[in-house]
Amino acid sequence: MRILVAGGAGYIGSVTVDLLQRSGHEVHVIDNLSYGHQAALSSETAFDVADLSNGDAIKAIAEAFQPEAAVHFAAFIAVGESVVKPDIYYRNNVTNAQNLLEALRLTGGKYFVFSSTAAVYGEPTAIPITEDHPIAPENPYGHSKRMFEIILESYDTAYGIKHVIPRYFNAAGATETLGEDHHPETHLIPLVIQAAMGQRENIKVFGADYDTPDGTCIRDYIHVEDLAQAHLSALNYLADGGASVKLNLGNGAGYSVREVIASVERVSGRPVPVVEAERRAGDASRLIAASDRARTILNWTPKHPDLDDIVRSAWDWRQKHPDGYEG
Ligand SMILES: NC(=O)c1ccc[n+]([C@@H]2O[C@H](COP(=O)([O-])OP(=O)(O)OC[C@H]3O[C@@H](n4cnc5c(N)ncnc54)[C@H](O)[C@@H]3O)[C@@H](O)[C@H]2O)c1
Repeated sequence: MRILVAGGAGYIGSVTVDLLQRSGHEVHVIDNLSYGHQAALSSETAFDVADLSNGDAIKAIAEAFQPEAAVHFAAFIAVGESVVKPDIYYRNNVTNAQNLLEALRLTGGKYFVFSSTAAVYGEPTAIPITEDHPIAPENPYGHSKRMFEIILESYDTAYGIKHVIPRYFNAAGATETLGEDHHPETHLIPLVIQAAMGQRENIKVFGADYDTPDGTCIRDYIHVEDLAQAHLSALNYLADGGASVKLNLGNGAGYSVREVIASVERVSGRPVPVVEAERRAGDASRLIAASDRARTILNWTPKHPDLDDIVRSAWDWRQKHPDGYEG
């Protein structure tokens, strides 16, 4: 299949591009490199440095490539930043995203896979979280993702463009060659690894008085290779005539902040300096996915459910790239 991948130089995008290429698909990547890394793409990858805000440029790329599908990773991803800069979140995650969808529609493409998030559910009313859980985003990031989900529903109804909307929980881990290198980094596992390596003074634990066994927040960490595999399966599902669907992607197991820190200490053999800090507004105590729908519909099973395995892969990648891709 010819697949246009927006945000393919980013963390999850680059791992997915690599898998799609190894599975025989023809991939064309668009990324403005605002947060992505050219070094995360092989030299053979067809790649345009382009910004989704430029609808004409995106359409010209699609006209030349004639994609059958688009996979859309390109977005701003920091929840806290979205609260103070909602303008850029709605513009990039909704308006600019629509330029990609329009380019696909106007050039005859039929399938769209869109990176959504557990943030669309807001504070959970039941655990594990199924796709039928009430939708109640608590920040502009979550709202922006939900808005684009709705746009995709309308494009299915009006134009027959079929979608799979994976809602990721916490992406984590690395492959042999591709890893997580966000600037600034906001995700727990790379931050704890940096603390273990002495690249940051300590790790702040925001809230140690939650209603959880050790008092710290619990999250569902899903290996980035498992996410990539789900995208490959989603494209096969759509090509086989599958109906549009939203799917949680998580392990179904939760690990607390303290358990993640302990895992990094085990894997690295190094102590991690910890500082307890106040709770952050809007942090749910537990976010754990029910991924039964993905397991059934995509015949997908996470291959790396073990926290130490996830952490080890991230640790190994960081040892090879102590300063990330540009180091
Ligand atoms: N990382 C997670 O745990 C997580 C969880 C839930 C959902 N998601 C979603 O998954 C997707 C990928 O996340 P990630 O962690 O790989 O992020 P990332 O920042 O590493 O990747 C996003 C990529 O999109 C590019 N990009 C952003 N805006 C663009 C634009 N206007 N034009 C062209 N390129 C643009 C960036 O340069 C970057 O390479 C995002 O949509 C994010 O919201 C991620």
